[in-house]
Parts: sequence; C-alpha cells; structure tokens
Amino acid sequence: MAAPSFDAFHDFEHAGWQKAAEQYARTFGTLTAQASGPLLDEVSVRAGARVLDVASGPGYVAGLAAAQGARVIGVDFSPLMVSEARRRYPDVEFREGDAEALPFDDGSFDAAVMSFGMLHLARPEAAIAEAHRVLAAGGRYAFTVWARPDEAVGFGVVLRAIEAHGTTNVGLPEGPPFFRFSEPEACLSALAEAGFERPRVQRLPLIWRLPSADALFQAALCGAVRTSAALQAQTPEALVEIRRAVHDSLQQYADGSTIALPMGVVLASASKP
Ligand SMILES: C[S@@+](CC[C@H](N)C(=O)[O-])C[C@H]1O[C@@H](n2cnc3c(N)ncnc32)[C@H](O)[C@@H]1O
Repeated sequence: MAAPSFDAFHDFEHAGWQKAAEQYARTFGTLTAQASGPLLDEVSVRAGARVLDVASGPGYVAGLAAAQGARVIGVDFSPLMVSEARRRYPDVEFREGDAEALPFDDGSFDAAVMSFGMLHLARPEAAIAEAHRVLAAGGRYAFTVWARPDEAVGFGVVLRAIEAHGTTNVGLPEGPPFFRFSEPEACLSALAEAGFERPRVQRLPLIWRLPSADALFQAALCGAVRTSAALQAQTPEALVEIRRAVHDSLQQYADGSTIALPMGVVLASASKP
C-alpha cells in the first residue's frame, strides 16, 4: 500500500512555521541550539567541508558550522525562518526549499544535518532519501528529534495537561506521529532503507532552563505548530486549567529562580557508502 501523502499536513506545518517563526527563536530555539555542537560532531565537520543544514529554522546549526570553517548552506521552506536566519547569520547562505525535494544536485555535500525538523515532515522518508541523494559518497548524515514525552519532559507536561483538562480531538490535519523517531529502531530502519550504512543512535540529555513555569506554557502556545494549534483550539476555560496544570507540574523542576526541565534528545547518524 502506498504511504499516505499527508499533503494537508505539509501545508498546515508551512502555515504554522510562518506564524511561529519569531516566537520559536525566543522559546524552543534557546533549547535546540544546545544540540548543534553534538549534531555537527556526529558528521565530523572539518574546515572547508560542504555542509547542508536542512530545515535550518533560525540557522543555529549552519551558523555554528560556518564558525567551524565549513562551507555551509541552510535550507528551510518558511520564508520567515529564512529571513530570521539571514538576520542572525548574515555571512551564511540560506535558501528557501523543501526538505522533501531539495533544490541541489546529486552528490553536492560532504555532510547533511537536520536539527529537530524530522518530526515536522509530512514525508520523512522522502527527506532522508533526498539527504542521501545530495551527499557525496562517504558523506555523513545526522538528525535530532525529541525523545519520548517521559524523557522530553516539557512535551509530557503539556500533553498530559491537555488530556486531563481539554480535548485532543481538535481536528488537526493527520500527519506522521510526532514521536515516531523517538524510537531508535525507527531511526535505524529509515536510514538503512534509504541506503545509508552504519546507522547509529545516541541520546543527549539536554536541560531547558526556563525563566518561569509560564515560559513553557507560552512556548507551547505560540512557538510550535502541532502543540500550539492543539492549545489554541481549546476553550478559554480549558486553557486556564491547562495552564494551571502546567505550572503545577513544573514545580518539581524548580531550581532557584528558574525551572530546569529535562528535554531528552535522540541523535541519529549514518554514512553514505
Ligand atoms: C523545530 S524547527 C527547527 C529549526 C532549527 N533547525 C532548530 O534546530 O532550531 C523546524 C523547522 O523545520 C522547517 N520545516 C518544516 N518542514 C519543512 C520542509 N518540508 N522543508 C523544509 N523545512 C521545513 C520549519 O520551517 C522550521 O524552521
């Protein structure tokens, strides 16, 4: 049976990132940027290497790769994200383009990375196949996704609050499961199916330092796509209860005047033969 195309989901994500671009950089971006170094280490970026940062968002990985001496291009399908990345890293090249149909010739890069993009794609297998296509022989590929909600605690807290006080039946367009690649087996098999060799998966125990409990609620409300849409679809009364439940759950992570939230990450990588 052919894989579902999830076209409506692709358009929903595109519209969502156009809306969330600015808030994302102020919220989740402060966390995802922590994974840029380990991601680039995994593809062994050297000075002069040709590196592609797919779904580059505000450009953290591309910016760091450029600082390490790589010849890097960032590509993202949201024009507002591309503008944000150009503003932050004016010396780095950023282009508009779709991860599922990359605007580059075969064999153009020594390394390709995707930082927290995979879980937003309508067709992740197409994106992995495209990364394989644009890599030269021997090229390295790596991507990060969030671990399951019990390890990426911020997601667990918000999702549990929605289930307890709101509704999960909010009519979002159907897409691939958000936590699909949190399972190492799913990463390993998708990489092998695309023709990569020596796939491996490791975990990064990131900690998200938040200035207040409400910072997580606001990040989830305005800085994401599926989670934000799910929250914005609740009734005002339910939203008040969800917000209170998020605050209550975060008390156990208080660390002085901040919140120190465990946000586990799965880092998958492989080589093109
Ligand atoms: C969670 S953000 C990650 C941004 C950045 N890489 C980071 O680590 O913070 C997801 C990014 O993927 C982009 N994106 C989602 N689907 C895409 C697609 N099909 N093609 C290209 N970019 C896509 C979004 O516009 C957004 O910038």
